Amino acid sequence: MTAYSIDQTIQKLEQIYIPSEIKSMLPLIEEINQIKKDKNAVILGHNYMTPDVFYGVSDIVGDSLYLSKAAAETTADIVLFNGVHFMAETAKILSPDKKVLIADLKAGCSLAESITREDVQRLKNQYKGVPVVTYVNCSAEVKAETDICCTSANALQIVESLDSDTVIFLPDEYLADNVRKHTKKKIISHPGRCMVHEMYTPLDIEITRQRMGGDVTVISHPECSREVVDRSDFSGSTSQMIEFVRKAPSKNILLITECSMGDNLRIEFPEKHFVSTCQTCPHMKKITLEKIKASLLEEKFEILLDKEIISLAQKSVQRMLEISYKKK
Ligand code: 13P
Ligand code: SF4
Repeated sequence: MTAYSIDQTIQKLEQIYIPSEIKSMLPLIEEINQIKKDKNAVILGHNYMTPDVFYGVSDIVGDSLYLSKAAAETTADIVLFNGVHFMAETAKILSPDKKVLIADLKAGCSLAESITREDVQRLKNQYKGVPVVTYVNCSAEVKAETDICCTSANALQIVESLDSDTVIFLPDEYLADNVRKHTKKKIISHPGRCMVHEMYTPLDIEITRQRMGGDVTVISHPECSREVVDRSDFSGSTSQMIEFVRKAPSKNILLITECSMGDNLRIEFPEKHFVSTCQTCPHMKKITLEKIKASLLEEKFEILLDKEIISLAQKSVQRMLEISYKKK
């Protein structure tokens, strides 16, 4: 059921792994794909998965927005989410009758950990009547407290869709700041940050541009600071970044985002030259082939959520999907 046959997978993996590594991956990849078939399971894989997981066993890959839509539409009995916990929770919120699994419950997110339901309640009390937008990188409980969710692919569109001059935007202060510069609305933010993207500085871009004699396209994720985003040629969600690589004016690309996406794109675009940056997300890296196999075999670790939380959070996520996928 994967997008690739085993021969195609080998051809892809050969581009960045050495033969002995591929030899140890293949049996696991084949076993996982067989278990998946036997159990009518589907594997969703985020763009930050390592290439063995991304190309070897994922049926559907993409950014948070696309994967949440895919989770809502799947007919499989089991959904295994290869990404982090909040993403698997979003899949459960949208497919409450399905068994949703994650291979490691400790695959968290610094943004999701920066905010609690009580924090949102406090802000709502402080700014009565102001709508709350939460970035999907938060827990189901936080989503349940909010009016509407957004992802990095649609943050500005969601903020602009609200009939209010002021918006509470949680929990990423950098994404909030990157939205703020494109809207007339007043944005109230919270001091949450992505531990990966906050590491990048304008100097990283300046030095690379100098080194490449100006011949480099810089593409960053909007979880980076405004100073980094402003010095980039493009900023967008992980899938929007990939689309921009396709039409980038230069052969040389500086990707300002999580390390594995660079590896996946090196395979996808062999004609491009990716200038390496390797900030890894320790949470995303908890998802390995070994854990995926155990997860499918033992049907662990299941995402279980309170019914009331699901129903409240579902409204916020559905509202976002309706706006994002509204027929033009
Ligand atoms: P995307 O929604 O762009 O895929 O990003 C998710 C994420 O966790 C980025 O750090
Ligand atoms: Fe969270 Fe950042 Fe990791 Fe994405 S890269 S999951 S935002 S910590």
